[in-house]
Amino acid sequence: MHSSGVLAALLVLPTLAFGQLSGRVGPTTSTASKRAKKICDVTRFGATPTGDIGPALTRAWNECKTGGVVFVPEGNFQMSTWVSLSGGTGVGIQIDGIITRKDGSDKGGNMILVQRSNDVEFFSGNGRGAFQGKGYEMHREKNIMGPRILRFVRVDNFAVHDFIMVDAPSFHFSMDTCKNGEVYNLVVRGGNQGGLDGIDVWSDNVHIHDVEVTNKDECVCVKSPAHNILIENIYCNWSGGSSIGSLGEDVDVSDIVFRNVYTTNSNQMMMIKSWGGSGSLKNVLFDNFIGHANAYGLNVDQYWSPMKQNPGPGVKLDNITFSNWKGTVADGMRRSPIRILCSTDAPCTSMVVENVSLWTDAGTTVTNECKAAYGTGACLRANTDRSFNANSAKTSISRPPPRYQAVKMDSDLPSDFGTTQPIPIPKIPASFFPGTKPLKPVAGSGAAAVPAAAGGKAAGAKASGAQASGAKASGAKEAVVFSS
Ligand SMILES: *[C@@H]1O[C@H](CO)[C@@H](O)[C@H](O)[C@H]1NC(C)=O
Ligand SMILES: *[C@@H]1O[C@H](CO)[C@@H](O)[C@H](O)[C@H]1NC(C)=O
Ligand SMILES: *[C@@H]1O[C@H](CO)[C@@H](O)[C@H](O)[C@H]1NC(C)=O
Repeated sequence: MHSSGVLAALLVLPTLAFGQLSGRVGPTTSTASKRAKKICDVTRFGATPTGDIGPALTRAWNECKTGGVVFVPEGNFQMSTWVSLSGGTGVGIQIDGIITRKDGSDKGGNMILVQRSNDVEFFSGNGRGAFQGKGYEMHREKNIMGPRILRFVRVDNFAVHDFIMVDAPSFHFSMDTCKNGEVYNLVVRGGNQGGLDGIDVWSDNVHIHDVEVTNKDECVCVKSPAHNILIENIYCNWSGGSSIGSLGEDVDVSDIVFRNVYTTNSNQMMMIKSWGGSGSLKNVLFDNFIGHANAYGLNVDQYWSPMKQNPGPGVKLDNITFSNWKGTVADGMRRSPIRILCSTDAPCTSMVVENVSLWTDAGTTVTNECKAAYGTGACLRANTDRSFNANSAKTSISRPPPRYQAVKMDSDLPSDFGTTQPIPIPKIPASFFPGTKPLKPVAGSGAAAVPAAAGGKAAGAKASGAQASGAKASGAKEAVVFSS
């Protein structure tokens, strides 16, 4: 090839920074082309405001799953039959209405499980589509055995976006063994209690960005196995905080980036948690974090006692960088803002703590604590210092580090949502990190609204026996707004 041709070819290659994504993410066909193929409006498959939307969703999926868009129009729907949507390809699930868990429907499982599918887009076109899980009805009885809201298993080339998940009886959204995903413009708002995780991911090549989570467990959490996960613009607005873990045996997690993470009133800004176990977590970057009033800041705990001790020397942590952090913890004497406690049989190596300026809201002294943790910065030791293995070293600091003060989000919650009251459905915010616009416009914000190409083929009149004209009335008008 001519040399300028080589150059031109290089220029069009996507730039894939190390530690981030390994290739393209998201659905492989556009929403418009799916829509042009077929629209399966659930109201033509039997969904009514007072009935159970579950069976209608399944029928609509079966009709559209090989190409088309399952459509839940604006309005209120209820759900008491959980659905398993399997074997789809080239399919959208557009939920513009609100689906509420029906009173008394408290069995476990997943309200919506999407599995073994390829080229899938799950979204709202108006930015107001939501699940209302009414978890408080169970949480006030101390029951967290109810359903999760949404789970993706073995789904490749997908997006989940512009959607709101409120008060899940159990976890909100998990991605299990998926590939090439993009998750964005999401709001999760759950009760103030453990077991109500926001977003959990153990998958390959996933970009999660512009997400707000309120709950009292994981905000955005990476579990094993996972590779090439890029997580940015995350707003933990009263939460457990973000984490990697808990990690057990044969851990295989690498090339993870968390960036632009704002955390307020949470358990931690970032935690890596394990106890015993084996395998490794490596090549990880945690960059540009802001925290206010959290219990812990940077917390690596390989003796995390809420989990049982796993067989093995400990998960090996290697090449992990924490850079450009600001803010405060609630009480830096009681709980160290920087705490890196590694397994003595598998010490942490090549750790870097740089420009991490965390101070305390209460008191005038903080302690940082490291154990079996080697690298540069904070209380880390040079790799040669083996004596540091057995004991932990606490460093007292009684002067605030430079430039620890950090801006706040205007919309920080004044309190959490407890566990006994209904939780209101919020709006998708205009920003998820101070001074930063979402990478993609939020649906319904104007910028993202694109009129559909002259209505898709409406399917479903046959299944529900409705008139074609009725089909048009409910499908065509509501369905005209979708995000590109
Ligand atoms: C360490 O991880 C970073 C990503 O955070 C990566 O750029 C670098 O190449 C890794 N170093 C080694 C020696 O693997
Ligand atoms: C730490 O801050 C300095 C000064 O702003 C900057 O030059 C350096 O790149 C920062 N380090 C990292 C790892 O970002
Ligand atoms: C954070 O929570 C508060 C209280 O509900 C809410 O007003 C605010 O909109 C939330 N922030 C964002 C960015 O949504």
